[in-house]
Amino acid sequence: MPLTLNTSYLADFISPHELEYIQPQVDAAHSLLHRKTGPGNDFLGWLDLAPAKDADEFTRLKESAVWIQQNADVLVVIGIGGSYLGARAAIDYLRSPNYNSLPKDTPDIIFVGNTLSPDALNEALLLCKGKRICVNIISKSGTTTEPALAFRVFRALMEEQYGKEGAARRIFCTTDRARGSLKSLADTQGYPTFVIPDDVGGRFSVFTPVGLLPIAVAGCDVDAILAACAEAQQTFAQPSIEKNPAYAYAAIRSLLHRKGRTAEVLVSYEPALVMLGEWYKQLFGESEGKDGKGIYPTSMCFSTDLHSLGQFVQEGSNILFETVIQIARPHRDFFIKSDPTDFDGLNFLAGQELSNVNQKALLGTLLAHLEGGVPNLVIEVDDRSERSFGELIFFFEKACAVGGYLLGVNPFDQPGVEAYKKNMFALLGKPGFEDQRKELDGRLTRLGL
Ligand code: PA5
Repeated sequence: MPLTLNTSYLADFISPHELEYIQPQVDAAHSLLHRKTGPGNDFLGWLDLAPAKDADEFTRLKESAVWIQQNADVLVVIGIGGSYLGARAAIDYLRSPNYNSLPKDTPDIIFVGNTLSPDALNEALLLCKGKRICVNIISKSGTTTEPALAFRVFRALMEEQYGKEGAARRIFCTTDRARGSLKSLADTQGYPTFVIPDDVGGRFSVFTPVGLLPIAVAGCDVDAILAACAEAQQTFAQPSIEKNPAYAYAAIRSLLHRKGRTAEVLVSYEPALVMLGEWYKQLFGESEGKDGKGIYPTSMCFSTDLHSLGQFVQEGSNILFETVIQIARPHRDFFIKSDPTDFDGLNFLAGQELSNVNQKALLGTLLAHLEGGVPNLVIEVDDRSERSFGELIFFFEKACAVGGYLLGVNPFDQPGVEAYKKNMFALLGKPGFEDQRKELDGRLTRLGL
């Protein structure tokens, strides 16, 4: 079954005529997107990434993944934001959040360069000790501080362990086609490279080598992911809210936002979806959060978070709506047996699969939250397969793009991300930031710091 959007729980919050009234605005947003006339229209390459545009590169990518599987115990993936979250979400979703610890015949995958924590870097180095290593550095600009610093360390380690030539066979660079310091370095050192297309921004790059190389190394079927993406490109190309679940979702988000719902919780009932929640937060946060606008995206994993944040959702400020991802079947179910003593009074569950209990938790929570006045919509998929992953990613991308245009922002830029970088460079004394440093020092003094 393809992905479906269940809107039947929204009756108390949105009337059918509201969807009818918003359709012309969705039509306009759709037209901006598909005619490529809206803001950020030079970043629309993600709209038709599947099947792989560069078939030769895709074949080389799959061959490299096999080579890495055969020659490495650990693949170190260096990248931040859109340059790592998609791959991380995919590996958790398709394999497991415990991927590295579980028995498997593919390399461990560790993600570094997404923080400036010395402890995280030291631990990553420790995890690599005595192991055969490959590195995949992923950076479109090649200059992002976090991954660049981590790469500096891992490049030195690789050259120490394998020599310059050996390292050059084990360092894979995913970066711009022609520009940037990483591309220049790769060319001079002979590192294999994969291209991040010019017209695809980081958070829309899961279906490029950014996501696909680490995902393939983890043993997932990248052909099936791209096939699902190709199908989703067709399904979600229709302008009609009635026929296009991605647009229905974008329209409903927009209507709920206009009614004061300023935060969306992406809910799942599987720990394997926690990182998908992180990816979704970046996609919507970076795309919509600008010009003083946007829905605040957050995520929760139930029932775990029902015991921490459930109280707020049920009875706290009336600002939330929930988008629940419901997965019909687990990878493997768990049968609940009867206990002769029934010491915990749980024998009423005996003879059931745990997935059934999880589904009842979902339904019970949904009804409780609806009663608490929280709008809920449900995205239904069959299982945690390559197909549903490809569909989900494209569904959110399409909804986010159209939602951004409905909101009146450019969904494809991220000017606000630069602010912290400039301050950090000034405070660290980077050449060229002297004036800003003086100004920041003055501000810190006035704050008594
Ligand atoms: O979505 C984005 O554009 C960002 O999250 C970038 O992916 C992130 O900042 C990393 O940038 P780069 O790939 O240039 O190192």
